Amino acid sequence: MNEPARSRYPEVYAVWKSDPVGFWGEAARAIDWYEPPATVFDARAGVYGRWYPDGVCNTCHNAVDRHVAAGNGERTAIIHDSPVTNSVRKLTFAELKREVETLAAVIRDFGVEKGDRVLIYMPMIPETLIAMLACARIGAVHSVVFGGFAARELATRIDDCRPALLLAASCGVEPGRVIPYKPLVDEAMRLATVKPTSCLVFQRPQCEAQLIADRDHDWASTIAKAKAAGKAAPCLALLATDPLYVLYTSGTTGKPKGVVRDNGGHLVALNWSMGNLYGAEAGDTYWAASDVGWVVGHSYIVYAPLIAGCTTVVYEGKPVGTPDAGSFWRVIADHKVRSFFTAPTAFRAIKKEDPDAKLLARYDVSCLRALFLAGERADPDTVAWAERILKKPVIDHWWQTETGWCIVGNPLGLGLLPVKHGSPTVAMPGYELRVLDESARPVPARTMGSIVVKLPLPPGAFPTLWQADDRMRESYLAEFPGFYKTADAGFVDEDGYIFVMGRTDDIINVAGHRLSTGGMEEVIAAHPAVAECAVIGVSDAIKGERPCGFAVLKTGVTTSPEEIESELVSLVRDKIGPVAAFRTAITVPRLPKTRSGKILRGTMRKIADGEAWTAPSTIEEPAVLTEIEAALKERGMARTQA
Ligand code: COA
Ligand code: AMP
Repeated sequence: MNEPARSRYPEVYAVWKSDPVGFWGEAARAIDWYEPPATVFDARAGVYGRWYPDGVCNTCHNAVDRHVAAGNGERTAIIHDSPVTNSVRKLTFAELKREVETLAAVIRDFGVEKGDRVLIYMPMIPETLIAMLACARIGAVHSVVFGGFAARELATRIDDCRPALLLAASCGVEPGRVIPYKPLVDEAMRLATVKPTSCLVFQRPQCEAQLIADRDHDWASTIAKAKAAGKAAPCLALLATDPLYVLYTSGTTGKPKGVVRDNGGHLVALNWSMGNLYGAEAGDTYWAASDVGWVVGHSYIVYAPLIAGCTTVVYEGKPVGTPDAGSFWRVIADHKVRSFFTAPTAFRAIKKEDPDAKLLARYDVSCLRALFLAGERADPDTVAWAERILKKPVIDHWWQTETGWCIVGNPLGLGLLPVKHGSPTVAMPGYELRVLDESARPVPARTMGSIVVKLPLPPGAFPTLWQADDRMRESYLAEFPGFYKTADAGFVDEDGYIFVMGRTDDIINVAGHRLSTGGMEEVIAAHPAVAECAVIGVSDAIKGERPCGFAVLKTGVTTSPEEIESELVSLVRDKIGPVAAFRTAITVPRLPKTRSGKILRGTMRKIADGEAWTAPSTIEEPAVLTEIEAALKERGMARTQA
């Protein structure tokens, strides 16, 4: 792999560090403002300060209208490549503008005003991006919910953000299976305390939904009428600090956190990242193979590529099975993808099916400049395999829903730094990191600790949680005063490279999807036969981690343990959704605990993963760990003896 001799990274990072306000003031000049910010950062506003508090802008204008105004309306904005429906559809920036301004007018006709929330439950189709941009256009705050979540999760989000309108598609399409979305929406509406009065439904031919009179409206005919009437909503001038969206992400309990993104900081940071981190230019084809329901999708399927004037690929398929492990290479070749971004799990899935990458030889992927990986730890084997088969830079980078863009990465645009497998490389401008021990003292190089970010967070990162400033302070800012707690553990080496090793809380990462084991425990504990339970993440060769539940049954329960175990699997699927990938529930006589009653999840995890383990000195009853080991062995887990 070729690495340039010199990267501009050290001087750019130094410039940021010496004058963060000057740095982000300069970066803001690349954005179209109705009123450029006179103040770059107000340290007294918000929970930890606010970026560009007096700037006035519109995200949709920057992502769509300004490209049309600059004469680039005929450039392709969106390529929808859908092997699951066997179709490819393209929209130019001019076509996108027309669709967005019409839908924005329709949304307004439903009575939605600036600041109102609109919940979007839609799959990987262009209409989902159109819906998000239409909201951004009129200052409505969108909240996209990933299609793999169940009705109850949807209801929790409806109750938290209280949307004025729902935008839904009739179905999603998974390989070999159509998933009707509308029954999930109807069930969520039934469960929710807050009842949105209108739902606009995009009918897909794979499964048309039944519309409920007075509440549900047909998307296509409503849009057609609006177009015939010449309706088009203009971009509304918004404060940079006005919210653009709320994206729910797993917290340590079943109640998800509503991560808020504002307009101005987000525009500036994403635009900066496209050139300097990803090395992307206007006119390039940029592909993030994620889902619009996740932060990677929000930032790098929808907003960043369009803001930067790139063509974005919306891929409705999987890395394998749609139809084979060559589908990524086919999409790269067909659409001349220059920058490609996905999660390591996708590469593990491809490697398993096609270890010698024989399918790659069928396609010309010379257009590809680099592969970017994020969403979970990129294990060195997977990175090395991807480098070997692609013969292009493979760039791991670390970020979170909360930050909205990269914390630690290797900036291709500034010039690559030498790669160290297992490390996403170095802190981006905007992020000053420390690794601290439990008493908030810095630890020496190569010593594990909690990774924290010195406040303030940069533009683009969340200013707060939706209507929950206190939860924001308690969850992220209280433990290490003056710092944002990432809840990731890791270490820094002597060259300043950061290694991110895993979460310090109850979050697990399953196939690049962030899930709460605490949330799963809440569901299992609600089963009438369960006395207590614990869910842990165990290692999985493809998905990185997968959940494994243990349940102690109440005395007197007569149903067989096997039956209850399968009920628990169904319960988690019904209540959280298939995305939880919860397939293992094990009934056990008791759970290992400390004398103070804390369940020893860490030790259970080591046993399940076949790692060396010792019973902690605080354990109440050491024999319980042996029982857990025996139960796991019965399932073919915990194979290696300590
Ligand atoms: N709507 C409805 N159901 C969905 C869904 C969606 N949008 N996405 C996933 N599901 C379902 C799947 O069909 C599967 O259902 P099943 O239990 O009936 O088989 C379940 O949720 C688990 O999905 P997943 O964890 O994705 O497993 P998989 O076996 O279908 O695919 C991978 C495994 C690795 C191929 C797949 O996870 C992948 O491509 N991951 C890429 C990672 C990614 O995009 N991460 C986002 C952050 S960058
Ligand atoms: P999400 O908010 O869904 O993007 O998940 C964020 C979490 O995923 C982080 O807190 C990490 O635990 C993990 N993660 C994401 N990217 C990386 C990476 N490059 N290396 C290690 N962990 C990662």
